[in-house]
Amino acid sequence: MDIHQADFVGSYPKPGLCPTDRRAEFAFIGRSNVGKSSLINMLCGRKSLAHVSNKPGKTQLLNYYLINEEWYLVDLPGYGYAKRSKKERRGFGKMINGYFLERSEMYCAFVLVDSNIPPQDIDVEFINWLGEHGIPFVLVYTKTDRLNQRTLDENLDKIRNKLLEYWTHLPQEFITSSRTGEGRDEVLTFIENTKQA
Ligand code: GTP
Ligand code: MG
Repeated sequence: MDIHQADFVGSYPKPGLCPTDRRAEFAFIGRSNVGKSSLINMLCGRKSLAHVSNKPGKTQLLNYYLINEEWYLVDLPGYGYAKRSKKERRGFGKMINGYFLERSEMYCAFVLVDSNIPPQDIDVEFINWLGEHGIPFVLVYTKTDRLNQRTLDENLDKIRNKLLEYWTHLPQEFITSSRTGEGRDEVLTFIENTKQA
């Protein structure tokens, strides 16, 4: 699949207000600043469809993009942004959890994990939460262009081993860079196949 059309549809503060036309949705989620908006732009072949920023915590609502007039790509707010107040973080947590629990048209979540840093508790907690609730997801390692192959392999193994403390199987994973376009074809092919399944 290639993306020949990507249109911003709207930003919604809660799942009950999102589009009701029952098109398939694919959600992108991860720690604040993990590279979600950059990845969305890379997948869509657009420079500034989603807002990229050096300042974490930019994405604050459930952002819907209609792709090829056929399916929705959903950019979710980053979880665990430390500079938000406790109350604010609880609010975001509620919006994100509510999204996954309520949107039956959500085919698969792409959980973005930064390949440059050691395993983060908050990522593991979120992945475990998805697993416990039976929500389909895959992992997307981001910013892999910043590392040489050896460091990348070491980092990914640490993350995989951390997950294996909780799970008997590892989820499907994609190795990506928004800088080089690595992983783009793999992610888009996966979406195409999942949508038709
Ligand atoms: P929030 O919406 O604020 O939570 O952030 P986000 O997850 O959408 O991250 P965003 O795409 O805004 O990127 C955060 C920073 O990481 C920016 O400075 C990007 O330029 C940088 N970045 C994102 N993806 C990549 C990548 O693949 N490679 C490199 N080298 N830098 C990246
Ligand atoms: Mg963003």
